Amino acid sequence: MDNTHDIYPAAGPIGVFDSGYGGLTILQELRFHLPQYDYLYLGDNARAPYGNRSFELVYKFTLESVKALFARGCHLVILACNTASAKALRTIQQNDLPNIDPSRRVLGIIRPTVEHLATLTRSGHVGILGTKGTVASRSYEMEAAKLSPDLTVTGHACPMWVPLVENGEAWSDGADYFVEKDISQLMAADPLIDRVILGCTHYPLLLDKICRHLPDGVGAVTQGTIVAESLADYLRRHPEIECRLSKGAGATFLTTEQSEKFTDMASLFLGQPVKARHIEL
Ligand code: DGL
Repeated sequence: MDNTHDIYPAAGPIGVFDSGYGGLTILQELRFHLPQYDYLYLGDNARAPYGNRSFELVYKFTLESVKALFARGCHLVILACNTASAKALRTIQQNDLPNIDPSRRVLGIIRPTVEHLATLTRSGHVGILGTKGTVASRSYEMEAAKLSPDLTVTGHACPMWVPLVENGEAWSDGADYFVEKDISQLMAADPLIDRVILGCTHYPLLLDKICRHLPDGVGAVTQGTIVAESLADYLRRHPEIECRLSKGAGATFLTTEQSEKFTDMASLFLGQPVKARHIEL
């Protein structure tokens, strides 16, 4: 009997998961900084947004998605979603992975972002814009308290922003109203903020509007490059995972929604044609 497969599992793509289209902003930077690898993107668009959902549901949906990516050959999955990173990552890493397959990895995007915070601000005051779930979890504040205790971190939830993006309204005039309102509320909560972290992977799709409404001297920070550099560093330190990643420079897209809708929207967001396939979870 040939047991080679058990000893040397076949190399597979890096799984990239988000509730919907937002993770494409992370995928784009991963492909730019680490172009040699294959990627398998999964958007759970049929059940997005996750931002207002309970801990139990975000955890359940995220775990189902991670298992779907594992079943399609991924040894490493990036939760390219702050809400899932805040609400599901730790439980999956500590409770589920040891039973599913301890050799596989699931990584989030909040810790790598917080590791950079201190280098981004002069005033020491940072704002985090995110979904209700991410902000209520206080994950950014808790990580910052460990890594950079001198920073003042203020979170503000923007519950309308993900629905605007998921519904193709990111470029509409109507979106300006909500962007301006949430930014003013964040700045009123702490006027010393000089850097605003877009702590939701959907928000870079509103970047032009966000920059237009930020006060002078306040900059917006997106997570894509931070996550890509952090993954490059992780893979240098973990050759046992790196050697299981296939290197064909390809990207495949899966969605729980209709594939035609994802194909159209993702092509618009990425600025290049994308062909998606529907899956059931
Ligand atoms: N992109 C997800 C995040 O980063 C979106 C959340 C949602 O589905 O509400 O939080």
